[in-house]
Amino acid sequence: MTSNKHLKNWVDEMARLCRPEKIHWCDGTEEENRYVCRIAVEKGSFIPLTPRLRPDSFLVRSDPADVARVEGRTFICSKTRDEAGPTNNWHDPQDMKNTLRGLFDGCMRGRTMFVIPYSMGPVGSPMSRIGVELTDSPYVVANMRIMTRIGKPVLDALGPDGEFVTGIHSVGSPLAPGEKDVPWPCNPDNRYIVHFPEERAIWSFGSGYGGNALLGKKCFALRIASCIARDEGWMAEHMLILGLTSPSGKKHYVAAAFPSACGKTNLAMLEPSLPGWKAECVGDDIAWMRIGPDGRLYAINPEAGFFGVAPGTSMQSNPNAMRTLAHNCIFTNVALTPNGDVWWEGLTEQPPPRLISWLGEDWTPASEKTAAHPNARYTAPAAQCPIIDPAWENPTGVPISAIIFGGRRANLIPLVHEAFNWRHGTFLGAVASSETTTAAAGHVGRLRRDPMAMLPFCGYNMGDYFAHWLSMEKRTSPEKLPRIFYVNWFRKDPSGRWLWPGFGENIRVLKWILERIDGHAGARTTPIGYVPRPQDLDLEGLDIAPDDIEQLLAVDPSEWKTETQDIRSHLERFGDRLPPELTAELNALLERISRKKSG
Ligand code: OXD
Ligand code: MN
Repeated sequence: MTSNKHLKNWVDEMARLCRPEKIHWCDGTEEENRYVCRIAVEKGSFIPLTPRLRPDSFLVRSDPADVARVEGRTFICSKTRDEAGPTNNWHDPQDMKNTLRGLFDGCMRGRTMFVIPYSMGPVGSPMSRIGVELTDSPYVVANMRIMTRIGKPVLDALGPDGEFVTGIHSVGSPLAPGEKDVPWPCNPDNRYIVHFPEERAIWSFGSGYGGNALLGKKCFALRIASCIARDEGWMAEHMLILGLTSPSGKKHYVAAAFPSACGKTNLAMLEPSLPGWKAECVGDDIAWMRIGPDGRLYAINPEAGFFGVAPGTSMQSNPNAMRTLAHNCIFTNVALTPNGDVWWEGLTEQPPPRLISWLGEDWTPASEKTAAHPNARYTAPAAQCPIIDPAWENPTGVPISAIIFGGRRANLIPLVHEAFNWRHGTFLGAVASSETTTAAAGHVGRLRRDPMAMLPFCGYNMGDYFAHWLSMEKRTSPEKLPRIFYVNWFRKDPSGRWLWPGFGENIRVLKWILERIDGHAGARTTPIGYVPRPQDLDLEGLDIAPDDIEQLLAVDPSEWKTETQDIRSHLERFGDRLPPELTAELNALLERISRKKSG
């Protein structure tokens, strides 16, 4: 229990509302984890994998209607619609509270309410923040234990008067006396993922999946934290953090923002193909960054685990993730092999002859459906990653030399370009775009503008968020801020063939980025920024046609002219909240393009 009165009162109040059968305060011990997993196995929610093959690991199959984040059911309930801005679903906070109180009334009947105190960031670090999640899902408890630091040490750090972000979560499926539970209770017709930014409160109902239910991740560490960061002058970003050491021993850290399922985890665990280079992972999804005493930007990974997309992960695409997954993991919606291990599309070249699919059905390679759900996930402790950075739990973070934006674009955007300065870099982030994937429910393959990869994760008006980015320049000397780059690993030739091999070869692009920072890599100046010439990239030993390199680095002014129309309508959405600096950047881009076309 706790000496924190506010926490006690809030738990009492929520228990009166939700009426659980029992309350369990999580202490975070091994023993507790064994207990939680055991009840989940007994209920048929967790399937233990064969210990010899995958020790202390479980397979979980969700309800087929509850398989991804639901952006359409995610709400930012700030006092005014304007505070939430044009990219968020807004609802009046009082009205929403009334709806939620109705839904939560008695919603935990027949279930245990778990109280999970958790720290985002190393316990006690000045950059960390505490949250408490109440949930009726043992799956959430087991996942939060991997994804965050939970339990007694957090309550101790909270102390009697410490502040915390409240998060109440229910699968929304109370049990009548004697009613048998289902393996994945949920309430897909009544899903609400709701944020009250002014109150620093999260209410989540009806879904047990990932970012909808593990409230430390997207709800706290991005949506609520982005509001706290704006108020306190720091940054909460959807970014991986990676340490890179050159053959000469010089180390830089970079942070990179890509939309969901664009290879962030693969880049975060890169195995460099260039001899002598070393990559080390600090985090794969979220970075909290603030200006340090020396004026540089420092980042921590607020999470303690990886909640990665399984399909496509293999010894070829991400060997370090595969090694991380050897034990102590939870796999959600992957396929089960006859010997009790896991499989997903892309894990091996040839699928096994027989599997049980994520739907629990017999599966063979002739089956029409995929064996794993495309958004199947693994939950794995970060400490198990063989290339985890020695400073990954450093309480003051790691200094960031470069910020990299990116997305999935088959055309137009070159392999890499560098912003002229922080303001131009903010513009590149603000207009970042990507073809959509399966991480969120909705259409796949449509182009969407995803500013700083934060479109579904910014807890306030994105126009103000852009202004906050621009304001970082005033908080330190501009030359101390990271340099800003934009990458596109996904450019294709007209026949639809990928031009760049990606994965471990991405080190060649990172090398150019770091050499730019250290002042010894060349580039040509184009209307969109600095772009390497073929001779500026280390392509030694890479089997790639010179013509492909030309195409990868091409900047076509007339295609960009068309693009600026879409950029303008994107920026215009923010109305008078759009910082004038970004309109000025767009106009300057247009002018550079026109000059190029006529010159
Ligand atoms: C994630 C996402 O799960 O961005 O990290 O969707
Ligand atoms: Mn993410």
